[in-house]
Amino acid sequence: MPQQVRGVVARSQGAPVTVETIIVPDPGPGEAVVAVQACGVCHTDLHYREGGINDEFPFLLGHEAAGIVESVGEGVTDVAPGDFVILNWRAVCGECRACLRGRPQYCFATHNATQRMTLLDGTELSPALGIGAFADKTLVAAGQCTKVDRAARPAAAGLLGCGVMAGIGAAVNTGNVGRGDSVAVFGCGGVGDAAIAGARLAGASKIIAVDVDDTKLDWARGFGATHTVNATREDAVERIRELTDGNGADVVIEAIGLPETYRQAFYARDLAGTVVLVGVPRPDMTIELPFLDVFGRGGALKSSWYGDCLPSRDFPMLIDLYLQGRLDLDGFVSETIDLHGVEDAFHKMESGAVLRSVVEF
Ligand SMILES: NC(=O)c1ccc[n+]([C@@H]2O[C@H](COP(=O)([O-])OP(=O)(O)OC[C@H]3O[C@@H](n4cnc5c(N)ncnc54)[C@H](O)[C@@H]3O)[C@@H](O)[C@H]2O)c1
Ligand SMILES: [Zn+2]
Ligand SMILES: [Zn+2]
Repeated sequence: MPQQVRGVVARSQGAPVTVETIIVPDPGPGEAVVAVQACGVCHTDLHYREGGINDEFPFLLGHEAAGIVESVGEGVTDVAPGDFVILNWRAVCGECRACLRGRPQYCFATHNATQRMTLLDGTELSPALGIGAFADKTLVAAGQCTKVDRAARPAAAGLLGCGVMAGIGAAVNTGNVGRGDSVAVFGCGGVGDAAIAGARLAGASKIIAVDVDDTKLDWARGFGATHTVNATREDAVERIRELTDGNGADVVIEAIGLPETYRQAFYARDLAGTVVLVGVPRPDMTIELPFLDVFGRGGALKSSWYGDCLPSRDFPMLIDLYLQGRLDLDGFVSETIDLHGVEDAFHKMESGAVLRSVVEF
């Protein structure tokens, strides 16, 4: 029987979100219904609301979530009712060229539910990143459910579903940070702090955090930054070179998405080092660099989508590290709120007052 539950809906561009009754169908073949326990508020939800992703309104927002599988459709064998899962937006297909070449993290045919959730009048909802988890229950492809140790706190675990995984993976997977590396991170929001935590896990010996906000720099120290630079008071590139014996950092991660900070990241890296762009630029942005520097400085300029993660490989492992006290996922949860607090959480996020507000159910 289709179920009626509450969900946070963005009906039109820029309009405040509303809590509405939505209809969640029973899971069809390859699908699962998940009872959501917690879901973080991410910039991408706000981007959907602002019409910055596409104009397929109305959207069912929310995508950084953990919960319990309630029911599964025909043919689902990887997860079962009662499993504690983190939802992901990279349910790999196993059949596209990337998957067949053994690079499933670049899969370009990832799975989402085929049925649609709707409003009471039958209007189809577009779930954010194919998830839509600011809802008591949501319908996803079963591959979007990654089973992890149920001892984890849902509000913390769910954050691995997007921004925190993007940051950790930018350091560990895309940047390939290793023992003894020097790392600089531009932007210490949730994503940048996760990159710092990832660099620490990977054994970086020097981790330099750059931001324009001293509070953010304080938090960054908590996640493992060994040095901090306030870019409003110091030249970030010069300071990073000073802190690395004049060389620049081995890996520089840009977690803001601005041409100005990308340029700084480019020059703050050691010769033959790696720049990882994990911040998302706006469509109108361009970047200009001396072409000879792009050539002459060598190394790698990479971008990182979702931290080049494979949820089935990375989520259970990171939850284990969290449960061992080696990865502070709780530190990303600035506050817990209820479903009615999402609009207010958008404002807090814009003002920089929080790393993550998390809706608990
Ligand atoms: N690649 C991915 O898969 C992925 C996934 C999730 C989010 N993101 C992107 O990552 C970026 C960061 O996300 P977030 O949630 O951490 O955002 P955030 O706004 O919380 O953090 C950005 C930080 O950058 C700092 N900052 C702004 N301008 C600066 C400057 N000129 N110099 C130094 N610091 C500056 C801010 O003070 C803030 O602390 C966003 O662009 C987001 O869209 C990417
Ligand atoms: Zn694929
Ligand atoms: Zn997100």
